[in-house]
Amino acid sequence: MRILILGADGYLGWPTVMHLTANGHEVMAVDNYLRRKLFNEVGVEPLFEVPRLDKRCAVWERISGCRVPFFIGDLAEWKFVEKIFREFKPDAIVHYAEQPAAPYSMLNRKAATLTLRNNLLVTANVIFAVREFCPDAHIVKLGTMGEYGTPDIDIEEGWLEVEHKGRRHNFLYPRQASSLYHTTKIMDTDLLWFYVRTWGLRVTDLMQGPVYGIFTDESEKDDRLLPFLNYDEIFGTVLNRFAVQAVAGYPLTVFGKGGQTRGYLNIKDTLNCVRLSLEVPADQGELRIFNQFTETFSVNELAEKVKAAGTSRGLKVEIQHVENPRIELEEHYYNPSHTGLIELGLKPHYLTEEVLVKMLEFAVKHKNNIAPDTIYREVRWA
Ligand SMILES: NC(=O)c1ccc[n+]([C@@H]2O[C@H](COP(=O)([O-])OP(=O)(O)OC[C@H]3O[C@@H](n4cnc5c(N)ncnc54)[C@H](O)[C@@H]3O)[C@@H](O)[C@H]2O)c1
Repeated sequence: MRILILGADGYLGWPTVMHLTANGHEVMAVDNYLRRKLFNEVGVEPLFEVPRLDKRCAVWERISGCRVPFFIGDLAEWKFVEKIFREFKPDAIVHYAEQPAAPYSMLNRKAATLTLRNNLLVTANVIFAVREFCPDAHIVKLGTMGEYGTPDIDIEEGWLEVEHKGRRHNFLYPRQASSLYHTTKIMDTDLLWFYVRTWGLRVTDLMQGPVYGIFTDESEKDDRLLPFLNYDEIFGTVLNRFAVQAVAGYPLTVFGKGGQTRGYLNIKDTLNCVRLSLEVPADQGELRIFNQFTETFSVNELAEKVKAAGTSRGLKVEIQHVENPRIELEEHYYNPSHTGLIELGLKPHYLTEEVLVKMLEFAVKHKNNIAPDTIYREVRWA
């Protein structure tokens, strides 16, 4: 397949580029380095330096023999999007190109506006470009489990059959996000659903939980191929942060009671979920939704697991409950279903002590780069 990867410089985008080319697909990579610009804006850095796309594509070509053409530009600008789609005419598009940090979206009005504008315009441009240049192409869009929030009933996979006054109808599962970023993902889903109904697009929306890890079959071939590992409060996902905190001797910061429960997955499973979705596409006129995670944990459980793995390696790991800067339930019911991707053939990589120890050992190698003052900033929701 000819696959366009939007957001290809990102934490998930770059490993996806390598994984899909290693599996025989032809890929074009696109990014505007927004994530790197935002690092500078808020004054944080990943745990180790990550080369830009030109260098990574060159290293990957030397190692794998796969050539990946790439373009740097803003997908919120129609002229750029038009150029890309005219040139490449994809069979499928993997759309990662968004501002993905909930704390960043809650920083201030400027950050909120950037998140809204960027995320909605990129999604809208992808929709318009598919309609104009490749109406049969399959859009694989990254959504988030955060779209559902934490309702007091089971979470279904995208849809809910509602019975009302004796009649039944299938609706998008009710969504109630807990950050502006997550709200933009709900709006993306609504945009996609509108154009699926109106123009018969073919869309898979992957409701993904927080991802952890940096090691994939391809990224382990050369350190220059590893993706970003952020451990700061703004861009770091919780388990990646805890692993670095444990190594830095910084107490694991659990927000409030720590009963917040979410569905997590190893980065290797993200790649497999995306590939499986591409290889068995949604039908024309279908919005297919999968819940993309493999296990659920509360923040307390994650902290205990990191503490146990760290202790087994001689690290002194403390857990500290700090006042929750976010507005969210700290104890709640959580029972989301996630069978669709397993039925497509996903074989999960679970969070074992071995996986955690490997993350910790890697962080130890880069311990000198850790800037403890960026770990916890208390970005407040209210
Ligand atoms: N990482 C996770 O745990 C996680 C969990 C759930 C959902 N997601 C979703 O997966 C997707 C990828 O997440 P990620 O963690 O890799 O984020 P990321 O920020 O590392 O990757 C997104 C990439 O898109 C690029 N981008 C953003 N706006 C762009 C634009 N206007 N034009 C061109 N490029 C643009 C950024 O520069 C960045 O490289 C996001 O949509 C995110 O919402 C991620």
